[in-house]
Amino acid sequence: MGSVVVVGSQWGDEGKGKIVDWLSERAEVIVRYQGGHNAGHTLVIDGVKYKLSLLPSGVVRPGKTSIIGNGVVLDPQALLSEIEKMRGQGVEVSPDTLKVAENVPLILSVHRDLDGLREKAAGASAIGTTGRGIGPAYEDKVGRRAVRLADLNDTDTIESRIDRLLAHHNALRTGLGADPVSAETIRAELEAARPVLAYTAPTWRLLREARGAGKNILFEGAQGAMLDIDHGTYPFVTSSNTVAGSAAAGSGVGPSSLDMTLGITKAYTTRVGNGPFPTEQTNEIGQLLGERGAEFGTVTGRKRRCGWFDAVMVRQAVETGGIDRLALTKLDVLDGLDELKICVAYEVDGERMDRLPVETARQSRVQPIYETIKGWSGSTYGARSWGELPAEAVKYVRHVEELVGAPVAMLSTSPERDDTILVEDPFHI
Ligand code: IMP
Repeated sequence: MGSVVVVGSQWGDEGKGKIVDWLSERAEVIVRYQGGHNAGHTLVIDGVKYKLSLLPSGVVRPGKTSIIGNGVVLDPQALLSEIEKMRGQGVEVSPDTLKVAENVPLILSVHRDLDGLREKAAGASAIGTTGRGIGPAYEDKVGRRAVRLADLNDTDTIESRIDRLLAHHNALRTGLGADPVSAETIRAELEAARPVLAYTAPTWRLLREARGAGKNILFEGAQGAMLDIDHGTYPFVTSSNTVAGSAAAGSGVGPSSLDMTLGITKAYTTRVGNGPFPTEQTNEIGQLLGERGAEFGTVTGRKRRCGWFDAVMVRQAVETGGIDRLALTKLDVLDGLDELKICVAYEVDGERMDRLPVETARQSRVQPIYETIKGWSGSTYGARSWGELPAEAVKYVRHVEELVGAPVAMLSTSPERDDTILVEDPFHI
């Protein structure tokens, strides 16, 4: 038995959906612990595509318990419509299989509005958020004015919570040129959120019991290490901690309940939204990676920026994110390229660096120092054993392991779940 935390080691979109699905078959409990419906996972099971955003990937498999932990910010309407969409695809989602933390903070229309208003006001320096209200909802949580799911039952305090929330938001809205929101509007939204109460549970206790009973637990991270609010390319980040440590606080288990962290890592690099990207290729190579890798956002449909593998960044993610093993994805996208580049160090203002500088302006001046290596002419697509890979592809993988300081436990060679080379089962490391 064991608990595995899955995190992204780049800027999200590393192909977590497939790996999480593969692992969720081996887990009894699957937990989301940070982020919200800014995330998007696509699962393909028996040829059927499922697009999940807020629901843990385990929901599509019968007999699993799916948990939305307290570290998530929850848009009740987004959750209810995702549940309906899943039911429409024949997936059973019930209060027996889905459990939502009682203390999860809610995303309301004021959060979505503020996200949009701020991005609009920021003009060229916008973050490029998903517009889902994630940042403003986390701000309200930390500002101690969030309405949490169980507060809907707290009739003694709900009115004062609404007043407090609106005192804050209406002042901001007025400053940004938007109309104030009435308490009536928020009351109606909270009323519409009531069906979510059917799913609430003390999820921290369920997790303790599951671990006590020797069950495998999968903690499913969203986004990636470089979008972490502390360790990422601040301020061009999301508003939660995306590193593995977040799984403990975001679900209510102790750090010793997390046995191993798997860092999902794409064989090249992509980013959606704005911010520094040292190895970005705004040329035909970037174009090719984007086309072959179908690099469009699952949630917003935005075209992802593409570039070479950045070993400096992934090494930093391994260190800050507590990554024990890698799951390397999309190696096949590099098939047939004559030569490949890997960023092995940065040059910033004439200085060689083995980490990302912290200052935003310096981050934007980072010049990648590349190693050029020979590509491979054969195909890696669909390979299920090392023997099926061209020798140069194996060399590439070995070199990545060495540069980032973590071994590969899983290698994914196509979107199909069985096209995976398993080196070590993450639940048994
Ligand atoms: P927010 O999380 O909507 O506030 O967006 C902040 C930044 O994180 C933007 O650059 C988004 O593009 C990025 N982001 C948020 N969620 C994801 C994700 O699931 N994959 C990739 N990027 C994401």
